[in-house]
Amino acid sequence: MVGGGARSTAVVGLQWGDEGKGKLVDRLAGEHDATVRFNGGANAGHSVVVGGVRYALHLMPSGVLSERALGVIGNGVVIDPQALIAEIDGLSAKGVDTSRLVISDRAHVVLPYHKIEDELREALLSGKALGTTKRGIGPAYADKVQRGAAVRMGDLTRPEVLREKVEQACRLKNGLIREMAQRVGQEAADLDADAITDQALAWGQRLAPMIDDTVYLLNAMIREGKRVLFEGANATLLDVDHGTYPFVTSSNSSALGICAGAGVPPSAVGRVIGVMKAYSTRVGAGPMPTELHDSTADLIRDKGNEYGTTTGRPRRVGWLDLVAVRYSAMVNGVDDIALTLLDVLSGFDELRLCVAYETPEGRTERFIPDAPRLTQASPVYETLAGFSQDLTGCRSLDELPGQARAYVERIESFIGVPVRSIGVGPDREQTIEISRGVCV
Ligand code: GDP
Ligand code: IMO
Ligand code: MG
Repeated sequence: MVGGGARSTAVVGLQWGDEGKGKLVDRLAGEHDATVRFNGGANAGHSVVVGGVRYALHLMPSGVLSERALGVIGNGVVIDPQALIAEIDGLSAKGVDTSRLVISDRAHVVLPYHKIEDELREALLSGKALGTTKRGIGPAYADKVQRGAAVRMGDLTRPEVLREKVEQACRLKNGLIREMAQRVGQEAADLDADAITDQALAWGQRLAPMIDDTVYLLNAMIREGKRVLFEGANATLLDVDHGTYPFVTSSNSSALGICAGAGVPPSAVGRVIGVMKAYSTRVGAGPMPTELHDSTADLIRDKGNEYGTTTGRPRRVGWLDLVAVRYSAMVNGVDDIALTLLDVLSGFDELRLCVAYETPEGRTERFIPDAPRLTQASPVYETLAGFSQDLTGCRSLDELPGQARAYVERIESFIGVPVRSIGVGPDREQTIEISRGVCV
């Protein structure tokens, strides 16, 4: 028997983030009853463009623009309540209905000291910094695993519990923050536990009507045969266990994080869609074998508007790394691929695809999810003919130039998974749907 989960869908990034997950989740949300964030926090920036209007979502599930789906922020997310409230208010001001949001009482809270700690740790690492988004993600997850002084969303509605936890956290962190600040030549004032508690209680009061046990909610929905869409944040190559460690984020940002981060059993995850760009990008530090530092990179960056949705940083750009993407497809058990930003590649005489790495130990077709070793890998390329037509108006496979089709076919055959949609522009409508894959 196929589990109830067969009706559920997961959308996960196969590269280093920003593959266009938000756009896909928005497109699929209308066919689902809930869109669920299960990992990460406000480090995510998911853009959705509808009718020329751009929405940047950080904590809100990207289904918020659909008229049907419930939005769920699961227990595996770390929530900065201030950022979430600002996001809710910003969307409401644009006329978006934000009332269908449910927040897990077990999701951990990012508090002001987490952001201070994130910033100071990065400063202390100086040349070896990870290039985090400075949203307090790592320190909040570290506290979750450390346990004692961590605060969960449910605690924001229990003043006594909250006050005690924040006091304890401040006691633990004051010395640490003071010392780290000193070492980078800064001065840090002591944390004011009362002020932080009062602020957090105000956030709790505002968000209380939305805080609930999302594990019972989601499991009941799945049992009733409702369709749930799990929205990955960050991406597989940033997964804390399976990415380019230590240049990763602090959660399981592949499909492997869904069960723990949403509180659903493995049978609840049905179709897994892997989202990948037609080239590679990365924000922050860490190895990226196909990175380019030439005019090709500048052209792709400009055409693809490759600047971070969360931090505005220019994204690093390179040719498509098929070795990396095939690894990600394996780890996630991807059923089909959503290929995005193919329109950006028009105008190049040739397109390159990385199909293996040269390493000190010899040539390999295996990805190397370990930063020091991946740094020593250089790409082995296959070259395909480029195309010059503007793809942004294409809505069917037949309308694509032969060279673009050949590029997609090579991606499919290398990974061994069908490409079921192709993005040709940021707008919801700028998508080519393919019923059975191009050639697989
Ligand atoms: P996410 O984090 O995976 O949701 O991706 P982001 O929203 O951070 O980054 C993807 C960027 O590409 C955004 O600016 C999108 O509007 C844009 N985008 C998504 N799909 C396409 C596409 O097919 N073509 C073009 N030109 N832009 C796209
Ligand atoms: P979406 O969901 C791109 C990167 C950061 C940094 C590293 C660690 O929009 O695809 P963190 O703040 O998480 O401790 O930073 O991970 N990173 C992302 N890069 N897109 C994201 O999310 C990212 N989330 C984290 O740039 O290199
Ligand atoms: Mg993004």
